[in-house]
Amino acid sequence: MDTFEEINVKGFADEFIDPTLDLFDEIEKLKKEKNAVILAHYYQEPDIQDIADYIGDSLGLSQQAAKTDADIIVFAGVHFMAETAKILSPSKKVLLPDIKAGCSLADSCPPHLFRKFKEQYPDHMVITYVNCTAELKAMSDIVCTSSNAVGIVESLPKDQKIIFGPDKNLGAYVAKKTGRDLVLWNGACMVHEIFSREKITKLKERHPGAKLLAHPECEEAILQMADYIGSTTGILNYASKNEDKEFIVATESGIIHQMEKENPGKTFIPAPPNNNCACNDCPHMKRNTLEKLYLCLKNEMPEISVPQDIIEKAVKPIERMLEISASLGL
Ligand code: 13P
Ligand code: SF4
Repeated sequence: MDTFEEINVKGFADEFIDPTLDLFDEIEKLKKEKNAVILAHYYQEPDIQDIADYIGDSLGLSQQAAKTDADIIVFAGVHFMAETAKILSPSKKVLLPDIKAGCSLADSCPPHLFRKFKEQYPDHMVITYVNCTAELKAMSDIVCTSSNAVGIVESLPKDQKIIFGPDKNLGAYVAKKTGRDLVLWNGACMVHEIFSREKITKLKERHPGAKLLAHPECEEAILQMADYIGSTTGILNYASKNEDKEFIVATESGIIHQMEKENPGKTFIPAPPNNNCACNDCPHMKRNTLEKLYLCLKNEMPEISVPQDIIEKAVKPIERMLEISASLGL
């Protein structure tokens, strides 16, 4: 995995934990003592979601990271998310429970190759999905997330030429929704590319009333079948507001914890992958555990650092995203 460089890594906490400790209590105590906040993505394991101060999708997490007055941000998510928090709040200490929690999508777009790609389209604006390295963000004009990508593209003049990266599936979805001709980088997420159209079709035959909810990182063949397409927050809100009782969920399985908590009478079925493994668990997201979260808060490591010149360049496209999102009411 090469999402991040050694230069970004300051230490890695790994020590024995007294098994009699109540980790929930210990984490609460440490949080108060150190004025820390825990931000967690919906793909984190249930215990982490339950102890977090804020749970959200990538946009919500960036908005929280930009406005928190805590001294320490513990980011229970993956490396690019913690990096984004550091870029938005450079004076704060940002911790990631497992420094190896990377992202296959971010890895699918090495910055030196993207630089060359970009050089082929000098009159194009660069929009990058937040699931990429800080270096890639520093080469971009606007960052986006799955909840605002369509709105951001639509906010630009119709004749604006655009490169969209790194996710080709989200890019194709945005191109279709906006009617724009986007130049796409050929990247993808290992979790969202694994769903099987055939198995979902069979599942729908057994559950004829079930609605299929899909993340736009899924392939077009899955999106074509979906009753709703949206970010993790969008998927959660749709399931809570909709009167149907059964849902097939085509995104990482961690989101099902909140769906079940918010909707006790409803059934959520993880969309089946095209093989027999538990592939709709993101192996990167699931590297974080409650134990690692406790150790990282106790020892204040592993800490994320981003070179100053990258912060200065990357903060502009992220802030632009936050401004456009606010103007769109997101
Ligand atoms: P959202 O939470 O923005 O929907 O993103 C999904 C994802 O894959 C994050 O890694
Ligand atoms: Fe990256 Fe996919 Fe995991 Fe999200 S689910 S963190 S895009 S590998």
